[in-house]
Amino acid sequence: MAAGAAAAAAPAVRRSLGPLRCGAAGPRGRWPLPAPGVSLRLCSTGRAPGDINKPVIERIIRVDHAGEYGANRIYAGQMAVLGRSSVGPVIQQMWNQEKDHLKKFNDLMVAYRVRPTVLLPFWNVAGFVLGAGSALLGRKGAMACTVAVEESISDHYNSQIRTLVEQDPEKYKELLQVFNYELKSSLMN
Ligand SMILES: [Fe+2]
Repeated sequence: MAAGAAAAAAPAVRRSLGPLRCGAAGPRGRWPLPAPGVSLRLCSTGRAPGDINKPVIERIIRVDHAGEYGANRIYAGQMAVLGRSSVGPVIQQMWNQEKDHLKKFNDLMVAYRVRPTVLLPFWNVAGFVLGAGSALLGRKGAMACTVAVEESISDHYNSQIRTLVEQDPEKYKELLQVFNYELKSSLMN
């Protein structure tokens, strides 16, 4: 299902990442990812984020939080329709991942003192309607929606990683870890 399309898209995205080498090398010798089962510790230095490009970081975190929130609502809508079908467990598993992502961005919102978008109520409804609507088209409709969303997310995180690397990869090391993790997660779905 989505894995095939994501896997096909992965090389292009990875190529476009270019020489991205911040933090410790990941399992591919390239991405600074945590070991499997090890959660990311945000702001592990114990320092409040300072000396950052606040407008840029606020915009990035706010948009990402809205995206993760919307993704959660999409899966909620899909589960409402297909939860008891044979694909229910797969959708639930993907939703669980998105819940984890949303939690990370909730943490980032607090750490960087970013307010959520005022459009959150809209994404609440729109995400659920999109998820339920795609699920009403059947399993293929739901998966097509997932693939489209995940590809969009991959492009989005890829762009943000480039922005932060161009600004200062050392300064934004922890954010880059989160974004790289999210990017890899979206490619695997
Ligand atoms: Fe996500």
